[in-house]
Amino acid sequence: MSKKTVLTGITTSGTPHIGNYLGAIKPAIDASNNDAYNSFFFLADYHALIKCHDPERVARSSQEIAATWLALGLDTDKATFYRQTDIPEITELTWILTCLTSKGLMNRAHAYKASVDANRDAGKDDIDDGVTMGLFSYPVLMAADILMFNADIIPVGKDQIQHIEMARDVAGRFNHAYQPLFNLPEAQVDEETQLIPGLDGRKMSKSYDNTIPLFCSADQLRKLINQIVTDTKAPGEPKDPDSSTLFQLYNCFATTTETEQMRKRYLEGIAWGEAKKELFEFLDTQLSAPRARYNELMNDLGFVEAELKKGAEKAREISVPFMDKVRVAAGIRPLNYVATQSEESQVEKKEKTAEEIARVEEGRRRAILMQLKRYFDRLDAASDKSAEAKLILEEKRSEVESLKKKAKQKAENELELLTSELAQYL
Ligand code: TRP
Repeated sequence: MSKKTVLTGITTSGTPHIGNYLGAIKPAIDASNNDAYNSFFFLADYHALIKCHDPERVARSSQEIAATWLALGLDTDKATFYRQTDIPEITELTWILTCLTSKGLMNRAHAYKASVDANRDAGKDDIDDGVTMGLFSYPVLMAADILMFNADIIPVGKDQIQHIEMARDVAGRFNHAYQPLFNLPEAQVDEETQLIPGLDGRKMSKSYDNTIPLFCSADQLRKLINQIVTDTKAPGEPKDPDSSTLFQLYNCFATTTETEQMRKRYLEGIAWGEAKKELFEFLDTQLSAPRARYNELMNDLGFVEAELKKGAEKAREISVPFMDKVRVAAGIRPLNYVATQSEESQVEKKEKTAEEIARVEEGRRRAILMQLKRYFDRLDAASDKSAEAKLILEEKRSEVESLKKKAKQKAENELELLTSELAQYL
């Protein structure tokens, strides 16, 4: 079976923290060492511009995130590790996809809706206040990141699932409108890594300002761990490990045996001061080697840059020819372009597994159904469903009759799908 492609990106607008490490970077590096996958990891620096207009911060974050992946041992010969802005085909693809994305779909995107809701709650007249076109069409850029490399699996946090769904929708539309060039990607959410607590016990996140930078100095690490909120139980009193942020962080880094031993000490009444000291020493021991490597890399950014350039070269071996195909499919062609026989039959020739065929088929079906929504609305509104279903099919049949070749083929596909969807009413 052909290898599955795993792809994920990190927005370059902050300093990598322990939550990023455990939730995204570590599982990604582990997957890249598994030969069953092709992996693509990138710095989403165009995404950073959506929310962060501080150029120094974007630039600094790119350095930090790139150095972090390398310090943690990413093997850049196995994985393709690159910077989004080094692949101009991604922005090109973004435009083509933008022209296929319905505005209504984007209206429903969480990030945009959150801004609109906040404006509404604040009683603002303009519910789009502060919303840029970047924020609004952010899911399209993300779809292009994913579809450019025909990724199958996208490891992400729960907040990103909707974006993967949108990428599937857009891919389906392209496949239906032009040629089936795109795979439909799937989100992969690891429930366990969603639960990494920050200093205040809420999920560790930049937006809560409760993070522990992955490679801060040992001194700073000690200080931050000392700030972690605990209850007021005295030394000697049994502590509940499962509601303790200190314990949970320990657990994230420890083996099962280590965790069980520490659990016992909580139940036996370890003092909070002692628990903090234990956590600090445990984390510091694990992080000191990659931290030293990180500091070395931050002092040798020419090397890090070269690694990214190497990744971009590998990525463009795929993106350049693929983008040529995408453009040609959409009708952007050299004036003297003539399709060769092999190009025409290439799509069918590529061997597909049954599962892949089913996925493409499902995407095609969803894309067609989206365009047929008006009929289903009519059916919903009708009291005599059977009569309405017959009428709809009648109309569609006569539309098919009146059309020529290509348009006819498209309408025939629609008719076929409608006939099967409406069969239950007839
Ligand atoms: N939007 C993602 C985030 O904020 C980052 C991202 C950009 C991404 N492009 C991607 C993640 C493509 C996965 C795949 O976390």
